[in-house]
Amino acid sequence: MRTAVVAANWKMNKDLNEAEILVKSLIEGYSPSGTEVYIAPPFVHLYAVNKWINESGMRLAAQNMNAAESGAHTGEISSSMLKSVGASTVILGHSERRDIYSESDGLINEKVKSALAAGMQIIFCFGEQLGERKASAHFDVVKAQLSEGLSGVSADQMSEVILAYEPVWAIGTGETASPEQAQEMHAFIRDYLRNQFSDAVAERTRILYGGSVKPSNAAELFSKPDIDGGLIGGASLQADDFLAIVKAAS
Ligand code: PGA
Repeated sequence: MRTAVVAANWKMNKDLNEAEILVKSLIEGYSPSGTEVYIAPPFVHLYAVNKWINESGMRLAAQNMNAAESGAHTGEISSSMLKSVGASTVILGHSERRDIYSESDGLINEKVKSALAAGMQIIFCFGEQLGERKASAHFDVVKAQLSEGLSGVSADQMSEVILAYEPVWAIGTGETASPEQAQEMHAFIRDYLRNQFSDAVAERTRILYGGSVKPSNAAELFSKPDIDGGLIGGASLQADDFLAIVKAAS
């Protein structure tokens, strides 16, 4: 059995005061279950959120990092900085990084290798655009993103990788992939892992779904055999909604 994961991606939302209110409400309503719960606030709140969630059972994640260890990279953040404030998990390859900040599969792969070498856990995101799905290219696109993004990653290292399939057309749009569409892709991804790595890697790797997950659709999505939880954007900004989604995964 794979342990379910629900991760909150706050993106560029919440000032420090708002972050504290949200975290305190989450802690109040949260009862730890078998599900792993991650909170990924903006960089500037990592240190504080880490202190607040301490002992709550929730875990901390960052939304991005630079592949370099240190040096002349104005405005960037390294793996050792993240670890030093309590974040040993990092989201990489999010579609907003790919689309708005032109992160290529190659650059994302550099980050993946750097994070794994630093002993971090990764939530690796990928997914097709609407036009690609309409052209029935979604399986090819996902396969290419996995093969390029995870190039050089060993079967052993895959134990530190959580995958997050996020069809771009479903992110922040209110449009969700149907549970059947999501399951179909997740089964394809698991087959890919079986062929590329091993049966063991395919069986143990958690594959999350992301894209307009809400309290109303979470339980049905998470009931599918290859969907092991979710990466939650908009609905993670309201404590009640996020906690209902966490409950749906338990
Ligand atoms: P959404 O975002 O839940 O707002 O669609 C998901 C994500 O981008 O991770």
